[in-house]
Amino acid sequence: MKNYREYFNKRFGEVLTQYNTPVWMAEGMQYACLQGGKRIRPQLLFMTLSLLGKERDLGFPFAAALEMIHSYSLVHDDLPAMDNDDYRRGQLTTHKKFGEANGILIGDALLTNAFSVMVRGSIGKVPSEKILEIVALFSEYAGIDGMIGGQAMDVAYAGKQISYKTLTFIHEHKTGRLLLLPILVACILGDASLEQREALESYGKKIGLAFQIKDDILDVEGSFEELGKAVKSDEKLNKSTYPSIFGLEKSKELLAETLQEARLVLEKVFKKEELEEFFELTEFMEKRTK
Ligand code: IPE
Ligand code: IPE
Ligand code: MG
Ligand code: MG
Ligand code: MG
Repeated sequence: MKNYREYFNKRFGEVLTQYNTPVWMAEGMQYACLQGGKRIRPQLLFMTLSLLGKERDLGFPFAAALEMIHSYSLVHDDLPAMDNDDYRRGQLTTHKKFGEANGILIGDALLTNAFSVMVRGSIGKVPSEKILEIVALFSEYAGIDGMIGGQAMDVAYAGKQISYKTLTFIHEHKTGRLLLLPILVACILGDASLEQREALESYGKKIGLAFQIKDDILDVEGSFEELGKAVKSDEKLNKSTYPSIFGLEKSKELLAETLQEARLVLEKVFKKEELEEFFELTEFMEKRTK
């Protein structure tokens, strides 16, 4: 995992140096993107490409764009009108550091410029039809049918009783879609067969849900020092979470079950020896403390 992170961070830093003016916006974009972050989404893209026998360089522009969009989603998620959080990745949130209006604009710039990063970085290296297909996917998975739709439901249902179905919908969208996206992008770039794509898509959906169940659990029992963001934030905002509906123990069981299902769908199509990194990642998703 460290390997992927180091490779990604080095090139990602270079991407973000292309912005200069207004200088505080350029600094804010770097601040929001380059200070820590586990880089799980880029890793998923690179791992899937490698499983399909392709070089990670081919996926880099898409991984960079995805991490820009993910980082923007965090900047906006932390705004006073949303979760109102003061710390992220171990430092002041972007709006705390640069002011609220700039926080909104820095997020907007990251989202908007992400599309140029992926297209300009891959033009001439990836067939245009594939780039177009991926651009459409990004827009759909980040937009109302994806992360934004989930975030809107998360806000709308704070403080209200919700069904298990609604909770799962929120988690699968606000978080799940941006974890599934890198896997689908890699399937397009790597010419996955229908059988491979279906297995990987099912894996991606399951780990996307699992990732947010674990995030909810860490909000209850994690530490500020390790997470770099506030704990007990969901309780304060009356958010519906897995622990708030099922309690901690049951949430952990559901997490383990979901991850086990994720492993099994891949094993049906790929050889165990090819899946080592995927198994490592699912284990990390269960046990992580940050
Ligand atoms: C946090 O995502 C917000 C969720 C979608 C759960 P990550 O836990 O991937 O955040 P970073 O990028 O590592 O900071
Ligand atoms: C956020 O979920 C999901 C996003 C789309 C950013 P949370 O609000 O639980 O994420 P954290 O705990 O602030 O990272
Ligand atoms: Mg939130
Ligand atoms: Mg939040
Ligand atoms: Mg959370």
